[in-house]
Amino acid sequence: MTLHYSFPKDFWWGSAASATQTEGATNKKSKTIWDHWYETEPNRFFEGVGPEVTSDFYNRYKEDIKNMKAIGHNTFRMSISWARLIPNGVGKVDQDAVNFYNDVIDELIKHDIEPFVNLFHFDMPLALQEKGGWENREVIDAFVDYAEKAFDLFGDRVKTWFTFNEPIVPVEGGYLYDFHYPNIVDAKKAIQVAYHTMIAHAKAVELYHARFDGKIGIVLNLTPSYPRSQNPKDLKASHICDLFFNRSFLDPAVKGEYPEDLIQLLSEYDHLPTTEKGDAELLKNNTVDLLGVNYYQPRRVKAKDYLPNPNSPFMPDWFFDNYEMPGRKMNPYRGWEIYEKGIYDIMINLKENYGNIESFISENGMGVQNEERFIENGRIEDDYRIDFIKEHLKWLHKAIQEGCQVKGYHLWTFMDNWSWMNAYKNRYGFFSVNLETQERTAKKSASWFKDVSEQNGFND
Ligand code: NOJ
Repeated sequence: MTLHYSFPKDFWWGSAASATQTEGATNKKSKTIWDHWYETEPNRFFEGVGPEVTSDFYNRYKEDIKNMKAIGHNTFRMSISWARLIPNGVGKVDQDAVNFYNDVIDELIKHDIEPFVNLFHFDMPLALQEKGGWENREVIDAFVDYAEKAFDLFGDRVKTWFTFNEPIVPVEGGYLYDFHYPNIVDAKKAIQVAYHTMIAHAKAVELYHARFDGKIGIVLNLTPSYPRSQNPKDLKASHICDLFFNRSFLDPAVKGEYPEDLIQLLSEYDHLPTTEKGDAELLKNNTVDLLGVNYYQPRRVKAKDYLPNPNSPFMPDWFFDNYEMPGRKMNPYRGWEIYEKGIYDIMINLKENYGNIESFISENGMGVQNEERFIENGRIEDDYRIDFIKEHLKWLHKAIQEGCQVKGYHLWTFMDNWSWMNAYKNRYGFFSVNLETQERTAKKSASWFKDVSEQNGFND
């Protein structure tokens, strides 16, 4: 059968999730910053719901993996909880945790689903945050120790690894915008944290390449920056956003060095991070094998002195942001922009400026509030999500036709899950879950995605 949109052989069809957002069993692990933050400020979390309320993947992974198989997944990205595997952050591993991750990995493989494993998904062990978290260079050694243990324990079966998921997010959230712990506003610290994260990443890559045989990459949320006008101030602001939010990780991860313009900008504001001898060489020699790209929406940028409230306390003076823009297509159920071509622009940029590095869409998805309103005959009829995925896949298909090395597409997420401060406000999954009974129900998009995965494409 010839399809309007068919994808390359062995294309990765699947979804992604993370440990904190799905596992539960919080009493069987040590605390992360999220457990701690929830204990100290529960009201900051949507409807006061904390990280112990999950779909209980810890106990129900067999059923979930069976469901993944049933909807045609050939790959699945999960993360390991550092605080579960190594209760003190460094040192001894917990045997129950080892058994759990071994079982999950084996179960995935048994179902012909290749496990993609990520090491850090926003969940710093509290013991290490108490030492300063990524602000403290010593935490890098702890991360490398954790990475080595994970590679040693699971690397015989896991051949696709990622060091960090969206490393810019803890920087923005924790040090600029108050939506991650330690919720402070300090641009200088933000930059130091970003830098240390990148060094931790490069050291883990170095170790992996020296001792293991598979691929290792990083998952970045690449957010294309589009200026709101051709005014030189907006053009400059957009360029700065691209430098800070995309290229501060993309360039060192793929090219092994920071963009000159970024270094220049940070030095103008006396915001250059503290570095150590050998760092530049470390970055140069340890670039990634593949890149995971998370794409949700673009950034429409206007220079700060045009903003309605240029004195917002959350903005360091070189920071610019997007706000309401007439004519944008918006997700009516969540409020984010939908701009499908962004996925294509990202891929073309990788092809033209980043050596056409092997990549895949590691997250893309549509959050919906009060999704129960779309239940008919017992399941959520999420035609809007099918359209969302389909339109993004069309642009991805075009990028592949034009020679981009895109290997797969993963939806965020497999099952509705706990989403940090937003808890269960926005639902993203192929499956919904009743948190009282733990009953899982496939949404309409799950059966549509099954067909797409099995046919390796779709008709319009
Ligand atoms: C990106 C993150 O990786 C994930 O943890 C989060 O829940 C989704 N985006 C949705 O916001």
